[in-house]
Amino acid sequence: MSMDVILAIVLIMHLVGVMIPAMVEKTVRAVVGKEVVLPCSAELTTGSIQFLTVNWKYKETLVIRYRNVFLKGSAPMKERSQFNLQEITKGNFSLILSDPQLSDEGYYSCEFDKHKTTVELQVFQVKVSPSGFLLAGETLSLKLESSSNTKLVPVMWLDPQSTQVMNTVSRILTDNGRSLQIKDLRVQDNGIWKCSIDTMTIPFSVTVIGVVDEPDSRTQQLAAINATVSFSFLLNIDLNQAKTLGVGDIYTNLSWKSKEHDTYQEISNFKITDQDPVWQERMRAVRVLTNTESQLVMALELSKVQFKDAGWYRYQVQFNRGHLEKTFHLMVMTVSADPPEPISKGAEVTLRCELSTPLPKGAVLCWDRVNGTKEESHQTETKHVLEVKARIAGLWQCSLKQGSSVKMCIDYKLEEAAEWKTHLLIGAGVGGGAVLLLLVGLCVFVCTARKRRRQRAQKMALARQHLLDKKTCQCSHLRKNGYFET
Ligand SMILES: *[C@@H]1O[C@H](CO)[C@@H](O)[C@H](O)[C@H]1NC(C)=O
Ligand SMILES: *[C@@H]1O[C@H](CO)[C@@H](O)[C@H](O)[C@H]1NC(C)=O
Ligand SMILES: *[C@@H]1O[C@H](CO)[C@@H](O)[C@H](O)[C@H]1NC(C)=O
Ligand SMILES: *[C@@H]1O[C@H](CO)[C@@H](O)[C@H](O)[C@H]1NC(C)=O
Repeated sequence: MSMDVILAIVLIMHLVGVMIPAMVEKTVRAVVGKEVVLPCSAELTTGSIQFLTVNWKYKETLVIRYRNVFLKGSAPMKERSQFNLQEITKGNFSLILSDPQLSDEGYYSCEFDKHKTTVELQVFQVKVSPSGFLLAGETLSLKLESSSNTKLVPVMWLDPQSTQVMNTVSRILTDNGRSLQIKDLRVQDNGIWKCSIDTMTIPFSVTVIGVVDEPDSRTQQLAAINATVSFSFLLNIDLNQAKTLGVGDIYTNLSWKSKEHDTYQEISNFKITDQDPVWQERMRAVRVLTNTESQLVMALELSKVQFKDAGWYRYQVQFNRGHLEKTFHLMVMTVSADPPEPISKGAEVTLRCELSTPLPKGAVLCWDRVNGTKEESHQTETKHVLEVKARIAGLWQCSLKQGSSVKMCIDYKLEEAAEWKTHLLIGAGVGGGAVLLLLVGLCVFVCTARKRRRQRAQKMALARQHLLDKKTCQCSHLRKNGYFET
């Protein structure tokens, strides 16, 4: 081999040696606002740094330069660029770019000696609109914005449960997966979402305020008269969170209507953030409180439910951008007797059992005499009122049944007015001479009997009350609350 050829090979190798680093391209992905490092390094012998000049350029414009001291160039990101001066002596010339912007995308080059490393910077951003908090039911738009050269990079969205978002009716992916529209937001959508771009993940937070569905909360309740019912309305935030989210003033309205097709009448309307509810006669207790899981709870408690309390209750929570609501249906069942006094022999009493709404599908209302010699039973499958003529005292029970289960039952003890008659008969059988004396005696006797009877009636009412409050009348399969499978 001639000297010329060797020289040529060395020359070519040298050229290739210079050219190769220039072609080694690295791609660095960044998120708007999050500091990023563009790598560049060299094997340095001790002390050689003082003879070295390192230039970082962006599209041929100088960003920063290191030559014993650190100099800024004129590229747009120059003020946000720096070296780690401790690392530089070890041959680490990486560019630290703080607060990257979408406009920072493109090719950067690190040049020193005869070396040149090119780094492509891609910058991404997730645009969430509207910004701030949202209410359940609203629509949210997410858009991945990035520099121009990234159209083919695969994008994946993950919801707060870390489930990959697929195209559905309420979650619409467009623009090659870069845009996501979430319709009809749910409470479960509240939390940290992620946008995953190849190996990079951008977490972002979405705040959805909504009604938490409690597993045991039904929107339909059946109550016996004089019982206690409560309805609650839970939000997934508490007042402190509301403050930090800048939610502003929150108002709550409770309204009521007795019939399904009526319009609601306002019962109560107050500013939650004042925590000073307006107490009204009907609303024996509306409370705003925060439970152990920091949820805002609005609870309506009605003790000693009256028949006139039946109907539809609607809570509305008013935010500046809309409202959330929940509706409850309260059905009340009551029993009464006409005349209400104890029954005398041979007399007739009308026992009435009434449900505040038409009978639900498949339900029957029954009056049964559950105590006595002869059993008696009456029922209706069409009407919400059942009246029976009772001649026999004893324990009567009105129950609402659906299929094989008893949804609700109320006991009514029909008493016999026996003692009054007996005493009266004794009084009538006594001779004339001692009439005055006996009349006085009889009066005392009757009065005592009356008093005793009244006391017993009171005791009975108390016992009945107790049964109702505990809702434990001797029905089988009675549930804690009466719910209908609708
Ligand atoms: C080079 O310096 C940057 C910025 O300080 C640092 O993030 C990076 O880990 C360093 N690289 C090496 C190989 O040490
Ligand atoms: C409900 O309570 C009131 C007062 O406590 C009582 O007078 C009434 O009889 C009770 N109603 C029924 C059906 O027991
Ligand atoms: C609820 O109360 C707010 C505040 O007073 C009021 O602006 C809003 O109209 C009320 N909503 C209803 C349905 O009454
Ligand atoms: C039926 O009623 C009578 C008197 O009213 C009472 O002594 C008896 O204990 C009752 N029986 C049942 C099973 O309730």
